[in-house]
Amino acid sequence: RERETNTTIAHVYRGTFVHSTPHTALQILEDALLGVDTEGKIAFIGKGEELNKLSQSCGFSPSEVIQLAQHEFFMPGMVDTHIHAPQYSYAGTALDLPLLQWLNTYTFPVESRFKDLEFARSVYTQVVKRTLRNGTTTACYFATIHTDASLLLGKITNDFGQRALVGKVCMDINNAVKHYKETSEESQEETCRFIAELLKKKYPLVKPVVTPRFALSCSADLLEQLGAIAKNNNLHIQSHISETIEEVNVVKKLFPDSESYTDVYLKHNLLTDKTVMAHGCHLTDEELALFRETGASLSHCPNSNISLCSGMLNVRNVLNHKVKLGLGTDVAGGYSASMLDAVRRTLDTSKVLTIQEPDYCTLSFEEVFRLATLGGSQALSMDDHTGNFEVGKDFDALRVNVAAPEGPIDLVQVDEPKILLEKFLNLGDDRNIVEVYVAGRKVVPFE
Ligand code: GUN
Ligand code: FE
Repeated sequence: RERETNTTIAHVYRGTFVHSTPHTALQILEDALLGVDTEGKIAFIGKGEELNKLSQSCGFSPSEVIQLAQHEFFMPGMVDTHIHAPQYSYAGTALDLPLLQWLNTYTFPVESRFKDLEFARSVYTQVVKRTLRNGTTTACYFATIHTDASLLLGKITNDFGQRALVGKVCMDINNAVKHYKETSEESQEETCRFIAELLKKKYPLVKPVVTPRFALSCSADLLEQLGAIAKNNNLHIQSHISETIEEVNVVKKLFPDSESYTDVYLKHNLLTDKTVMAHGCHLTDEELALFRETGASLSHCPNSNISLCSGMLNVRNVLNHKVKLGLGTDVAGGYSASMLDAVRRTLDTSKVLTIQEPDYCTLSFEEVFRLATLGGSQALSMDDHTGNFEVGKDFDALRVNVAAPEGPIDLVQVDEPKILLEKFLNLGDDRNIVEVYVAGRKVVPFE
């Protein structure tokens, strides 16, 4: 498989590549050759034995080939489809209250501090570095209501080379914290300013995302205007949906004319094929059908769902409804910023559902691997250029060394690649992620 166009090869890697396709949760390419062009795109994928032929047809020298070691492999970068960058400042704490109390007690007071750009700079630098080191090549971020700090988050992701969607949060009602609120007009105007200024920067990997916090934080007027802004500018949309039963009940009371929580977003043009909604633990099958029809996707955030005792998403049912699904850390409702944790908690939740209902079709590690990579990319409508190793896509990849010195994994024998991947997903950490690439550029280790 080679690219049609005549591009210049920048790097060629040889070794094991593992990735997913829409048809195969885990495809393993052993002793493969993968070429990346000067634009960071995958120029060709071939077999090691074709080295001489490929080096002539694609124009590179066999001596330039970078050879992976025996316990190494490349996998696609992971996609965090839902993370709150400001909440990284208290990640690992404050997990003792249910969602609505948690927001008023911990979240809103902390988020209000991001008016201070120096505080924002220090936290946003930490969260971008931490997620990149842990293999998140694409992140879909909530920032805060503050436009300038949100723009700063965009700059920091661009500077470190992380692919990102960044949202200035919108919220005009129901907030117990005095200094952390905007009027509907402010929220609309600042959203437009945020979008215009972020687009003006022309960061190649960073895009704005329209971000109503959730139905409980936004008036009908604001929801409607945000739907229009997204439509007029063809932008992504992100929010939360059906995370807890209490939240679903309050939404019912607040929007008596809507048939369901999903219908509230649908009515305000916020359910599109570029929408990603976090959680969805308590969605009905009828609501899932609306997701399927509109092309909207879900972000499964199992650490958060367990930590805040919100519920358990039935992932198998979501997949059976053919709704696009990715994984999210939901920092700080989820206490870990690592997508490896999201993979493990997804498997745990699936197993708890199996304990409760032995006929439940438990997720396999291969399926969860796909959710963390290609699934996330599909959920963010980026699978035309990211998510797996296909010729023509951007090279977003992790070089994993399962036997990293000082790392958490001991190998007793030469294992096959499938076993190496399973060990890494269950036991690995950032010590095993020796290099991270986004659009062909090495972004970890940091320069
Ligand atoms: N719903 C509305 N805002 C939030 C938030 O910040 N975190 C979580 N987990 N749920 C929310
Ligand atoms: Fe969230």
